[in-house]
Amino acid sequence: MTNVAVIGAQWGDEGKGKVVDWLASRADIVVRFQGGHNAGHTLVVGNQTYKLSLLPSGVVRGKLGIIGNGVVVDPDALLAEIARVRAQGMDVGPETLRIAENATLILPLHPALDKAREAARGESKIGTTGRGIGPAYEDKVARRAIRVCDLAEPETMSDKLDELLLHHNTLLRGLGAETFEKQALLDKLLALAPQILPFAEPVWERLDEARRAGKRILFEGAQGLMLDVDHGTYPYVTSSNTVAATAASGAGIAPSAIGFVLGIAKAYTTRVGSGPFPTELHDATGELLGTRGFEFGTVTGRKRRCGWFDAAMVRQAVKVGGITGLALTKIDVLDGLEELKIGVGYNIDGKMYTHLPAGQRAQAKATPVYETMEGWSGITRGARSWGDLPAQAIKYIRRVEELVEAPVTLLSTSPERDDTILMRDPFEG
Ligand code: GDP
Ligand code: IMO
Ligand code: MG
Repeated sequence: MTNVAVIGAQWGDEGKGKVVDWLASRADIVVRFQGGHNAGHTLVVGNQTYKLSLLPSGVVRGKLGIIGNGVVVDPDALLAEIARVRAQGMDVGPETLRIAENATLILPLHPALDKAREAARGESKIGTTGRGIGPAYEDKVARRAIRVCDLAEPETMSDKLDELLLHHNTLLRGLGAETFEKQALLDKLLALAPQILPFAEPVWERLDEARRAGKRILFEGAQGLMLDVDHGTYPYVTSSNTVAATAASGAGIAPSAIGFVLGIAKAYTTRVGSGPFPTELHDATGELLGTRGFEFGTVTGRKRRCGWFDAAMVRQAVKVGGITGLALTKIDVLDGLEELKIGVGYNIDGKMYTHLPAGQRAQAKATPVYETMEGWSGITRGARSWGDLPAQAIKYIRRVEELVEAPVTLLSTSPERDDTILMRDPFEG
């Protein structure tokens, strides 16, 4: 028996929410450890659809959810999301949700700065979700952030607001955006305090107890490896580390407690926002993948860019992220395509690469080297056992395994919770 970390192996939206919800039936606790409400996870259970951003996807199973210190928490967004899922009949309260007292808060000035900066970047914008994620992480690292525990200390908040506003108002003014007033922000935080503090605690203690009691912990990653601030397509990335190692520091638990690392990858590739995407398709096949896969952002509603599966990139994610096994999702979207392509490397200025180099210009110039495979005429959609899969689909999965150098241990064949095939239980190690 071991714990499991679920991380995205591409540019996010791989279907982590569906997989975490499915695996949560076998877990005792589900923990978010990085990111914030830039994440959007869609769960389909019967005729109900749940859209979660900050809440761990285990809440839908009634499991204890924990928001770790590595997450940036927008209190307004959190309360709105809790109200939304409660209206759908879920029970989310201080008994079922715990938030790290040392998690960083997102304040209204963070999305304001995020948007003002993106506007100033013009053509070279990152395409952020505009939710203040980057500026909040910057304040954390700069040691001026207001944290959940500060809500219990009005004087601390007042002092920190002086420093924060000196910094942010200077920037906002320079960017021609509206500035913020201290008293209004302080009043807002004081009003939020009694609503947020009942959820706050040193979650590391609860996790330590759970670990010693042999409870199963599921760590739920947000975004994906190519959006990792160190390992991704920098600067077109998010502002946190998305690798599984972050689960330890972002929750407050030993690295050895992470266990099985399940990387989630779509059977093709998508990306929202700007930045390099070597296997992107600008043709009818790209459109088809987008329509069939319903590729629209959960958070911003933006149309996702679509392309072929990039095995070179996922292989890199497997190595860097320490991925033990892969969950391959959305294979059903490829049903009926006559021919499939898999990216196996890159051509940059006539030179061949088996990985994506780190340089920004090199990444922008990378064109994919493809391997072509025959598609299948049968359907994988809704399959719940390996025996239901067309032989050619199995061939595709086997080729993916060889190229990415990791076994496919779980297969998802539709958005519906139970349309899932488990080959190897990650909790068994
Ligand atoms: P996440 O951010 O990784 O949790 O992924 P999102 O929820 O943002 O995006 C994945 C989308 O694909 C959602 O709309 C899911 O309902 C859907 N989805 C997940 N798995 C499958 C699958 O196997 N097949 C199909 N067709 N859709 C899926
Ligand atoms: P989930 O958890 C896909 C992208 C944004 C943008 C970049 C930086 O649903 O997979 P940010 O607001 O984080 O500063 O934006 O990262 N991005 C995501 N793309 N899925 C996500 O989360 C994402 N979270 C951020 O589109 O390109
Ligand atoms: Mg998403």
